[in-house]
Amino acid sequence: MVCLGNICRSPTAHGVLEKLIQNKGLYKNIEVDSAGTSHYHIGQPPDPRSIAAAELRGYQLHTQIARQLRQSDFQDFDYILAMDRSNLKELQQASPQGCRASIQLLLDYSPDSQDSVPDPYYSGEHGFELVLDLVEAACLKFLAHLEHRLQAAQAEA
Ligand code: 4NP
Repeated sequence: MVCLGNICRSPTAHGVLEKLIQNKGLYKNIEVDSAGTSHYHIGQPPDPRSIAAAELRGYQLHTQIARQLRQSDFQDFDYILAMDRSNLKELQQASPQGCRASIQLLLDYSPDSQDSVPDPYYSGEHGFELVLDLVEAACLKFLAHLEHRLQAAQAEA
């Protein structure tokens, strides 16, 4: 999960998907991480407003530490999901030839037509709720997609 600062949107997506994976007992099969395209907040925990909003919905973000995207991410992960079009463009420009990861927008998995998770950093509380609404809906669909892939792989084995 990738955004600009790795303190608001991508840690939220990281925490939400991780919880959904735990609930399904799939934590041995699927690993989640998050990063920022910028260096602005390296080493910091998520924004306290993100932590608080997520906690009210049962997601724990406080143990996460912001990091910047690294070149090895393009080979280490099957998917790199951007929160908005600007993050997507940066990812596409930074991706090496023969990149393993499929680079997409998280909201490619959204049930509705919005394509980007708006940056809540300069918004009020409402912005953080909107992030959670969009991220929860998309992570449910993304996890369903991953489960299909896992089942297909297990059927082949
Ligand atoms: P994020 O939000 O990309 O969702 O983590 C932001 C956090 C910090 C800044 C911008 C966006 N900033 O400019 O410091």
